[in-house]
Parts: sequence; C-alpha cells; structure tokens
Amino acid sequence: MFDSIAGRYDLVNSLMTLGLDRTWRKFIVNQSELKTGGLALDVCCGTGRLTVELASSAAPAGRVVGLDFSENMLAVAAKYVKQFPFKENITLVHGDAAKLPFPADTFDCATVAWGLRNVPDISLVIKQMARVVKPGGKVVSLDMARPTVFVFKDLYWFALRTVIPALGRFLGRNKDAYEYLYSSARLFPPPEELAALFSETGLTETAYYNLCGGIVAVVEGRKRF
Ligand SMILES: C[S@@+](CC[C@H](N)C(=O)[O-])C[C@H]1O[C@@H](n2cnc3c(N)ncnc32)[C@H](O)[C@@H]1O
Repeated sequence: MFDSIAGRYDLVNSLMTLGLDRTWRKFIVNQSELKTGGLALDVCCGTGRLTVELASSAAPAGRVVGLDFSENMLAVAAKYVKQFPFKENITLVHGDAAKLPFPADTFDCATVAWGLRNVPDISLVIKQMARVVKPGGKVVSLDMARPTVFVFKDLYWFALRTVIPALGRFLGRNKDAYEYLYSSARLFPPPEELAALFSETGLTETAYYNLCGGIVAVVEGRKRF
C-alpha cells in the first residue's frame, strides 16, 4: 500500500493536515531531546520529512538513520534528503520496524511518526525501539488520536470517513489507502493506552500530549539507566 502512494504521499498529507504536519513533526523533534551532534533513529521514516527535521536539529555534526520497509517511500526520501546541506548526516535503511537491524544501546533517541498505527504488533516495535536506544534516551511516537471536543469530534470522524478517501482518490490516486486511514485510526489505541503500552515495555516517565484538539498525539517514554 505504501509503495503505491509514495509519489503523492507528501502532497496529500500536507492538504489533509492543512500544513500542520510540519508543526507536529517539530513538536516530536523537540520531545526527542536530540542534541547537536546526537544520533537519532527515525522508524517508519517514509518520505523522510521527520528524518530531515531531526537532522536539522542535530546539525552540523549529528547523524540520523531513517528506516522504512517501502522501497518507493525510501526512493522519495532519498531525493528529498539530497536538497539539504547536511544530507551526508542522513542514512536511509531498508528494514522492518519489528526487527531493527541495529545493536542495543546505539541511538540517543528513536522516533516514529504515523508508523505504529500500521504495524501488526505495536508492543514489539516499541520494544525494538527501546532496545536500540541508549539508557536515558527517549522513544517518541506521533500518530492519529481521538478528538474529544463536542461536535468537532463528529466532524473529524465524518471527514476522515468521507472527505479524505475522496481526496485520496483524486490526488493520491488510491481510495483504498485513504479508507484504511479511517479504519486504522478507529482501531489504534488512544494515547493513554499507548502510553500504558510504553510503560509495559519497561519505559519510564511515559507521557502523552494531545495536539490540535486531539487530532494527533505524541506519546513518549524514556529508557531506564
Ligand atoms: C504513514 S507513513 C509515515 C511516514 C513518515 N514517518 C511521516 O512522518 O510522514 C507510514 C510509513 O511506515 C512504513 N512502515 C509500515 N510498517 C512498517 C514496518 N513494519 N517496518 C518499516 N516501515 C514500515 C510505511 O512504509 C510508510 O512509509
């Protein structure tokens, strides 16, 4: 599915979120606590938008590894990354989030944006991310959540069920992928449950932040020393 939407993913994403996706990615970068010169892992990196935000935050010396299992998404990411002066600091890896090909205690932080909702075993991926992060490092996820505000929440689910698949059909040329957005959002654990999963995997200081009335949420935890 992701291979088939790679070429238009960023355009549809920006329209769907009215450009707010960039602001949300900046929020997750901030929560990752990545420092200049640090080493970050961006799991399910897709077209590399968050990967580049992380590299920009760690520049000039920091490094970021973006990992994804869609070759077409990685091809779009490779083109995108080339535009930036710190492109040498970014490595794109073809791999599975459920079997991260890195030794334990490697990265200063690990991020995942709109990724956990798509994996069959969420806890396994959180465990993998926690394994490869150094003690004291953060694991942070950004994903769709559940608006709670009266009326707004009904409008939100209505738009996700009807308007977004239509937009996906015309612009993304793939209605199914954008219908999947609605069904996957319905099934995905709400942020408080996701934070509980973070705790169950052994992460500490778990917390969540609803953004834009709960359209998306950032969930985080820290690996114990
Ligand atoms: C909705 S996109 C998010 C892309 C990007 N993180 C962003 O901020 O826009 C989800 C990505 O997760 C990737 N993905 C899904 N399951 C995966 C897995 N098990 N291992 C690696 N990548 C996966 C897909 O290929 C896709 O690129």
